Amino acid sequence: MFIKSIHLENFRNYGRLDLDVGPSVNIFYGNNAQGKTNLVEGIYVASSVTSHRTSKDTDLIKFGENEYKVSLDLIDDDGSSCSLSSCYYTEKSELSRNGRPGRTLIRDNAPADKISEYIGVCNIVIFAPEDLNIVKNAPSFRRKFLNTLISKISPSYFNLLSNYSRLLAQKNALLKSIRSSDSMPSLVDEQLNFWDYSLADLSAEIILKRYKFVKLISDIACRHHGSISGGKENLSIEYNTIFGVVGALETFLTKNSKYDEYMSKGLSESDYGRIKGILSDLVLAKLKSVRNYDIDKHISSTGIHRDDIVIKLDGLVMKSFSSQGQQRTAALALKLSELEIIKMFVSSTPILILDDVFSELDKTRRMSLVSAMKGAQIFITCTDKNMIGEEIDVMQGANKAAFYRVESGNIEAEA
Ligand SMILES: Nc1ncnc2c1ncn2[C@@H]1O[C@H](COP(=O)(O)OP(=O)(O)OP(=O)(O)O)[C@@H](O)[C@H]1O
Ligand SMILES: [Mg+2]
Repeated sequence: MFIKSIHLENFRNYGRLDLDVGPSVNIFYGNNAQGKTNLVEGIYVASSVTSHRTSKDTDLIKFGENEYKVSLDLIDDDGSSCSLSSCYYTEKSELSRNGRPGRTLIRDNAPADKISEYIGVCNIVIFAPEDLNIVKNAPSFRRKFLNTLISKISPSYFNLLSNYSRLLAQKNALLKSIRSSDSMPSLVDEQLNFWDYSLADLSAEIILKRYKFVKLISDIACRHHGSISGGKENLSIEYNTIFGVVGALETFLTKNSKYDEYMSKGLSESDYGRIKGILSDLVLAKLKSVRNYDIDKHISSTGIHRDDIVIKLDGLVMKSFSSQGQQRTAALALKLSELEIIKMFVSSTPILILDDVFSELDKTRRMSLVSAMKGAQIFITCTDKNMIGEEIDVMQGANKAAFYRVESGNIEAEA
């Protein structure tokens, strides 16, 4: 799949942009603060709904406006056309009919009712300076990395997550409404039982997906990391969730010799039901054991919303012990694993965005990156177009690279 044209309206510093792009390498160059990152962010938001650098939709609206719209015209691998359009409006916008903020997603000129029907259509992998957050920052960055990757491949996972977040918000509202001086009325206890039971059920399904993808990411990222670092260091990634859950899953898979089946085509319905039951019982027991604490603190202290992935180099947690360069290499290996996993599961070739990444990588890392990208449609941003020469030769296919100059929210294609 590749993008034929990009349309932005009131997005960041773009008032209106209609731009045709090439099917191979597209290079956007210009001084700082001209709108290069904003453009690629617009492309990413049009395909994935959320931004890679902010979770606030209002940040994306051009200052002084009340809505943004980002659209892509696409050509699929079989030559057919399709289009995606995502619009977000605030409560002040004329598009808001009920005085509330909202979003409209259009796929092929028809409304997409669910985000899950929209986000898998055009897969984009973005490499950006923010990737370093996955290795060195809070668990929420690693959860976002994992959730985004699995959602791109599995719309059902996205729906599980949405249901989980909705139920958790309802349970939290109940926890907030209970005053610690209250003796617990049985009605509240019953309601909490209901939320915990439903959350445990959803948690088991989410855990089964997350464990599998963390294993895949670990294997693939470790291989990439080995080849970039010359095999000197060993990267490993572990799934960290509610205590005892990973052990129970691994015991089930080993005892029943189901590991290979689980990792490849998936478990049979009856095995899936059995392990799901074991995991949801464990989660439920854990939620019950912290109930008094949670009521006291008005929070959900335990659950898969606190999951993490632990990234280690030679057995040491990278977040705490690794150098900036080692962290950057690991971030690159993780993103290359994302690209490889999407290629494994999705039939059309993902589109790639490299936002300002070349300047931060040395030659070996740059070459590892570009050699994984041959033949795809690529969007590159940089301040100096002369900095990338050899890399373009590796990446571009039969079509020549196209250059665009970005200045104050305007883009001009080089003849
Ligand atoms: N919501 C917004 N409305 C209007 N302008 C915005 C908005 N958000 C950011 N900007 C502005 O967009 C400008 C360009 O930002 P962008 O991140 O795209 O720059 P860039 O070309 O990638 O620069 P660099 O080379 O430094 O990475 C900044 O001056 C910023 O203030
Ligand atoms: Mg930038």
